[in-house]
Amino acid sequence: MIGILDYGSQYTQLIARQYRRLGYQAEVWPASTRASWIREQQASRKIRGLVLSGSPASVGYELQPDPEFLNLGLPILGLCFGYHFLADVLGGKVASSTNREYGAARVEKTSDAANDPILAAMPREFRVWMSHGDSVVETPRDAKVILRSQGEIAAFSIPGRRIWAFQFHPEVHHSEHGIELLAAFAREAAGEKAEWSVKGALDQTLSRLRTDLAGVPEVLCGVSGGVDSTVLAVLLSQVTHVRAVFVDHGFQRAYDLPDLKRTFSKYPNIQLEVVDATKEFWKELEGVSDPETKRKIMGRLFIETFQKHADCPYLGQGTIYSDVIESAAAGSGASHNIKSHHNVGGLPKDLKFKLVEPLREFFKDEVREIGRLLGLDSESLDRHPFPGPGLCIRCVGPLTPARIEILRKADTILHDELKRRELYSKTWQAGCILTPVSTVGVMGDGRTYESVLAIRAVTSVDAMTAEASDLPLQDLKEIASRIVNEVRGVNRVVYDLTSKPPATIEWE
Ligand code: XMP
Repeated sequence: MIGILDYGSQYTQLIARQYRRLGYQAEVWPASTRASWIREQQASRKIRGLVLSGSPASVGYELQPDPEFLNLGLPILGLCFGYHFLADVLGGKVASSTNREYGAARVEKTSDAANDPILAAMPREFRVWMSHGDSVVETPRDAKVILRSQGEIAAFSIPGRRIWAFQFHPEVHHSEHGIELLAAFAREAAGEKAEWSVKGALDQTLSRLRTDLAGVPEVLCGVSGGVDSTVLAVLLSQVTHVRAVFVDHGFQRAYDLPDLKRTFSKYPNIQLEVVDATKEFWKELEGVSDPETKRKIMGRLFIETFQKHADCPYLGQGTIYSDVIESAAAGSGASHNIKSHHNVGGLPKDLKFKLVEPLREFFKDEVREIGRLLGLDSESLDRHPFPGPGLCIRCVGPLTPARIEILRKADTILHDELKRRELYSKTWQAGCILTPVSTVGVMGDGRTYESVLAIRAVTSVDAMTAEASDLPLQDLKEIASRIVNEVRGVNRVVYDLTSKPPATIEWE
């Protein structure tokens, strides 16, 4: 297994996902991880190598990886910040670059790269993706420079100690031969066999669940229609009876519940229970405008509703690996908490349930793969992500039933039209946002003064970064026209063109 130390780079999870796709088991550990913990783990797990990730920080400032990592006898791959750290801790010199490099750069192999097991199969020169403000200006004494970019040091290795360090990010799609580089580290340096697969990990998860849930007659699951909770219910239903509770909080879309009923009808071990909690949610949410307050109330009421309506001691949660990594990273101070997520931030500490979280080890694309292996169709698995707090955080400004109804109607039109025009699968996520802005319009012969509705459609791989979808303008115009004509209360539709960062996907 490859352990990836997360110093807060936006690409850390990508390193783990790339390794797993290549067939190597990989885990992400928080920046606070100490060498002593790794040593303890080594007693029961085969840790073959460490990757030190990039970071928004500079070496010597907020973050300091444990120098003891170097004495674990493990091969180490340092990337960006990891590269600077290795140079620094081994006696080299790191300096703030005069030329900050962001984006594509070309690197060239040096004569010392000739016998390097990681670079052996690479061409003499290739394109990579850089994103750094610091540079290694002097390598450690026993290091060999193996790559240069415009004459500057771009990578070094310490052959006797199985240490490699690269200035760039091999894990991103834009780095040529990056995946080969990661694979070469795992294979040549760490001696790791490529035998990890989603199918194998699923079999292990099922056998663990059979042991853990032996004699447990039923597990309660909160289901929303989203991929994670749907796969969770189906996964648990292979082992025990599942009471799938859909809390109708009043902020779901029109098609969420009907779609879910259709999906679960194929799984006899799943019993769908709908709890109508709309009154309780509205009681606390009506008139609330502040985004974080909305999220906190939603999260709290959600779990309270469970506790009130469920007498089952076991609760299945659709926590996935990204949630686990992000919570750990938020705790370690390596990254910033931008929004409190419904399934993490809102939970009270005194949960009365025993939590069952069998998807904790899987990334989103792996969860989909598990769903496929368990017979779910692409209609359920390739749904756009939808936030736990639902339309509540797409209704900017005060929450009222009338405003949510406007949003729900507009969203249904957008959803139907994207499907009809075969644009749904070309978009990673799409939805409507009701803004608190009213503008003047003209309908028939009369003046209107109604709300502005925004359409947000993005392409993304993992929600960490996103770009506005290139939906054809003609389609957007026709969709806007349908919305304005059919949804009373909206007289103007705008399209959100902003990428993430600097914006986020949801508006709140
Ligand atoms: P942001 O707005 O942070 O969203 O760019 C990234 C992705 O996460 C979804 N999202 C949530 N999902 N609970 C969820 O289950 C939440 O509280 C939540 N907030 C945002 C969002 O829809 C997007 O896919």
